[in-house]
Amino acid sequence: MTADQTVPRLPASLGLDQADPVLVEAITSGLIKVEEVLREVVRSDVDFVNQAATHLVKAGGKRFRPLFTLLAAQFADGNTDEVITAAAAVELVHLATLYHDDVMDEATMRRGTNSVNARWDNTIAILTGDFLFAHASGLVARLGSEAARIIAETMGELVTGQMRETVGPGPGDDAVAHYLTVIGQKTGSLIATSARYGGMFSHATPEQTTALQRFGDLIGTAFQISDDIIDIASPADESGKTPGTDLREGVRTLPMHYALAQDPDPRLAELLAGPITDDDEVDEALTLLRKSPGLEQAIRTLGDYADRARAQLTALPPCSARDALDMLARYVVARTR
Ligand code: IPE
Ligand code: IPE
Ligand code: MG
Ligand code: MG
Repeated sequence: MTADQTVPRLPASLGLDQADPVLVEAITSGLIKVEEVLREVVRSDVDFVNQAATHLVKAGGKRFRPLFTLLAAQFADGNTDEVITAAAAVELVHLATLYHDDVMDEATMRRGTNSVNARWDNTIAILTGDFLFAHASGLVARLGSEAARIIAETMGELVTGQMRETVGPGPGDDAVAHYLTVIGQKTGSLIATSARYGGMFSHATPEQTTALQRFGDLIGTAFQISDDIIDIASPADESGKTPGTDLREGVRTLPMHYALAQDPDPRLAELLAGPITDDDEVDEALTLLRKSPGLEQAIRTLGDYADRARAQLTALPPCSARDALDMLARYVVARTR
């Protein structure tokens, strides 16, 4: 590794430092290899492309999806070369979606630094996102046609979720059901595939791989609910993103739907009627939402999804990797506190 490459640090709240040391060593060494693949793959001889493509890789991030692939691989053959390639590929797909998502959300901050659209502009962010998608596809091609088919389907689902969110619920649609469909597609799909790849490329049994995929789908949905809670409840220095981005974009998330369904403060209802542009009004809406019962209700729904995910783990043999997946489910809930 070169000087600017740091070993990815797992969030302390994940509790993995208390996991079996043999497992921690397998995951840590796997993440280092994934990091090497990532840096190698996004490099370009064109200096400008290189700068824009490495900007958010260097900024860090939790590496949640590759972590998932690696953990899912520990039920069978562990960190095979294909597992490492798959883990890097899912992170690259995720990264590409972030470049595009920040354009859509007009976000200025990502991973604790300026977003690519803010540092350069929308065109650069869109093209660099495409560049990253291209390289993710190249990596997946090394894994064979079945893996390529799976990632193609996953990307189709993810984009459909983003589109569904942009269009919003139709007349007569249940807003919460619409929200849950959106987040299952835009976030659950890729986390499910991350876990599925881990099972597939470590040669786990088909039953185990299916359980891992289902766990990923439910945890991915929970992860997006927690992200939406964090957008309301956590300061930028913890999330690395600007709080209230969903309010500014007029994207209604679960705490907002729940707050609106429960005889809300009339001022909150007025503020949530559309996108909010004024900084003081964003702060006002955040203050009202933090006090609203909608936030607590969303935290309960988050807990329900995490519990449903953990129930899938009984299909897997008891071992330190299963314990770590259980910890991961607890972490997704705990990170909102
Ligand atoms: C952000 O994902 C987008 C969502 C799907 C919620 P992460 O919270 O995993 O972002 P990074 O990779 O840590 O920056
Ligand atoms: C975007 O959801 C999820 C994907 C990139 C598919 P958000 O818009 O909530 O993600 P953040 O909060 O910007 O990371
Ligand atoms: Mg966003
Ligand atoms: Mg968000």
